[in-house]
Amino acid sequence: VSSSGDGVTRLLCKEISDASPRGIASTLTRLIRRGDLPPGTRLPTIRELAGRIGASPTTVNAAWRLLREARAIETNRRGGTIVVGAPQPPRPQRFEGLLPFDRGDFALDLSRIVPDPALLPDLDDALAWARSQPDVNTYAPATIIDPLRTHAAAAWPFTAESFLVVNGGYDALALLARGLLTSADAVAVEEPTSPRLLDIIDAIGAEAVPVGCDSDGPDPAALMAALRVQPTAFIYQTRAQSPTGHSVPPDRITDLAKVLADTDVAVIENDSQPGIARSPAVSIGSLMPERTAHVRSYSKSHGPDLRIAIIGGAARLVHRAGLLRSFDAGWTSRLLQGTLAYLLADPVAIDRVEHAGRTYASRRELLTAALAARNIHTASRDGMGVWLPVLSETASVAVLASKGVAVQPGGRGFLSPQTGGFIRVSASRLVDGYDEIAEWIAAAHNCTWT
Ligand SMILES: Cc1ncc(COP(=O)(O)O)c(C=O)c1O
Repeated sequence: VSSSGDGVTRLLCKEISDASPRGIASTLTRLIRRGDLPPGTRLPTIRELAGRIGASPTTVNAAWRLLREARAIETNRRGGTIVVGAPQPPRPQRFEGLLPFDRGDFALDLSRIVPDPALLPDLDDALAWARSQPDVNTYAPATIIDPLRTHAAAAWPFTAESFLVVNGGYDALALLARGLLTSADAVAVEEPTSPRLLDIIDAIGAEAVPVGCDSDGPDPAALMAALRVQPTAFIYQTRAQSPTGHSVPPDRITDLAKVLADTDVAVIENDSQPGIARSPAVSIGSLMPERTAHVRSYSKSHGPDLRIAIIGGAARLVHRAGLLRSFDAGWTSRLLQGTLAYLLADPVAIDRVEHAGRTYASRRELLTAALAARNIHTASRDGMGVWLPVLSETASVAVLASKGVAVQPGGRGFLSPQTGGFIRVSASRLVDGYDEIAEWIAAAHNCTWT
């Protein structure tokens, strides 16, 4: 760390022409980007700089806050402030670092809970129908086209005041979270959860507070404990949870609603495998519709390239998410909405999705049974994958990688420190070879680094 020589202070005095918080922050940003204040440079104290540029300490403090939020400077425990680097827009750090390898290098990629293309419904007739609809290519935003609204209203696990179609499940979660949370909010999140959700919360700057899960989903006692930080929202998945595969039974929904009863915490629910999950649709919205937003993504059941999820629930939550769309896509293509609407009403497509759901369950069961035959007992829960505790996550991932098999390490889905680790193995595209794969997983399971 360079010392805060008088040189730094002199440079700042010379360069700062606008002594407002924004003016000071912009000057520092420019100097950092230009390399005049390299990472590690110690900045003068707030009081010292304020005195030298004729501003109040409050003003310099406000500038420091802007720079801290942009991750350009850091104040250490002793109160010294140091340049970290050029201001950085948020990045999805957990997602970027999820796999310590390139998926393309693997003979067998079991790291992703993705549909088997051979099990998806055929799109030809659906696309032709969608293309023929009279309002295609009109410029009015299509919040949700009528046939999709009719389907959603009948299929939703509660009476939703409002519906909105967006571009996939994570788009839905990001819009709902951004509509509700700021860096001054805390949010209760089930643990483990999907790393991408944690990235979304980090990018907003909200504080994520973990709510531990058991085999029935979020633990009501853990949710109660999380209420101590007064979260604005609670986010969880209802079925075929990623990564663990659990589905929340109706009596757990009742218990979670009881915990939330005397609060005004909003509930954001994610159902990422409707039609595929074998458990029934549930929702806290059946008890608290006025504060629940429920997301269904059709990527796993009907096709990832439809890029469609529906948000349905309390109007105030859905509308806030919808307003944010004026910052980006505006609306979701009527061609894609129409394609999904056709598939949801078509008996052939309905049968096909049901067949896919049964097939994924049977693949998951076959993998679980092959593991059990090798003394690795894990509950086959729901959805497309298997979640396994291992002695060392890194060692297990590496041992399987040496066999050409990619699996997903579980650690990045946790907020709390864990002992040992987990791997998630997708069975969604496994059509054979269960014994061989179970053999490799068994070998990886007890490995540690020596
Ligand atoms: C937890 C979770 N939610 C939602 C989705 C669906 O996301 P999208 O529709 O954006 O592909 C996925 C897919 O991987 C998921 O794992």
